[in-house]
Amino acid sequence: MINYSRQSINSKEIKAVTNVLKSNYLTQGPLVQKFEKRIKNFCKSKYVVAVNSATSGLHIACMSLGIKKKDMVWTSAISFVASANAAAYCGANIEFLDISLNDYNINISNLKTKLFKAKQKGKLPKAIIVVHFAGNPCQMDEIYKLKKQYKFKIIEDASHAMGAKFKNNIIGNCKYSDMCIFSFHPVKSITTAEGGAITTNVKKYYDDLKLFREHGIKREFKKKKIRPKYYEQIKLGYNYRMNELEAALGIEQIKKLSHFINKRIKIFRTYKAELKNDLFIYPNISVNSKSSHHLFVILLKKNSKTLRDKIFLQLLKKGVGVNIHYIPIYKHPFYKKKNYSLDNSEKYYNTCISIPIFPTLSKNQQNFVIRTINSIK
Ligand SMILES: Cc1ncc(COP(=O)(O)O)c(C=O)c1O
Repeated sequence: MINYSRQSINSKEIKAVTNVLKSNYLTQGPLVQKFEKRIKNFCKSKYVVAVNSATSGLHIACMSLGIKKKDMVWTSAISFVASANAAAYCGANIEFLDISLNDYNINISNLKTKLFKAKQKGKLPKAIIVVHFAGNPCQMDEIYKLKKQYKFKIIEDASHAMGAKFKNNIIGNCKYSDMCIFSFHPVKSITTAEGGAITTNVKKYYDDLKLFREHGIKREFKKKKIRPKYYEQIKLGYNYRMNELEAALGIEQIKKLSHFINKRIKIFRTYKAELKNDLFIYPNISVNSKSSHHLFVILLKKNSKTLRDKIFLQLLKKGVGVNIHYIPIYKHPFYKKKNYSLDNSEKYYNTCISIPIFPTLSKNQQNFVIRTINSIK
């Protein structure tokens, strides 16, 4: 079975992690700081906070924006549930945005209409969590204009998009957002096993993010306190710290990020050139963007979930490890009470299949995937 994705780990990385096991620090320490610095340099953001997953990063990003019970938060219907859960943890009311069938990101013209109507009803969102789906960036300048007009905050869920660029802005520089979150889960651009990071250019968010990551505990005081190692809890925080083993892996992985993305670009181009089956629509990258190519999603032209499921099973049986990204979040039993049905999200869900893409996918493996898909009747 060729998985739809998998991590790429070499002996140098195994050594880096083993060295940590032999050292004094296992939990958050100097390597986490070093990894944060590497991310900061890569993304050209002012601040970085490493955490133990993108899910916790999204959660404390919402906390730092002051999202609380009954606030409105909007996010894309087509994403992993964590994009919505982050706001749900804070007690927010979540609304889902339909996608565009060109790039599978939130549909900007729908967003404009929804904001216009929300303003009339006095129900504007406090924040919008935008998702750079499959690593292809959202049209951030357009969304930023709307942020200025309607005064909401923007969190970028860039779990798929480390290494991507929008109009020459590296995702993570927060030019158009308040905070940006990456995931380092094994199938992402780089991995730390579990892990994530938040970038921001706002000192206040940075200070809060660090507090929320570490139980709400403050360790530095203007006046000298009673004794060394003195601390006080000043907010209700969490233990969302990254550990040194994860950071050691991350430091090695980030060195290979450009190489990984180049490999993914090559695989993308080969698929685009060699997938010829007319039953499907193949993805495009927005002209002004560089994608990190986290996923390669093909859509069945016929809007038929039954046929899609049949093809999905056929591919699995032949050894092509396909996947579905994603069930519209509003369809999950937890969110179902919201009673949504968004046209493009429904159509997308009925027809989508993710096919293998990851840096170590070999030429032979990719040829096999291409032959198998081209032979579907
Ligand atoms: C869009 C999106 N957001 C958030 C997450 C959560 O990431 P993590 O597993 O690092 O918590 C994922 C993970 O798959 C994701 O795809």
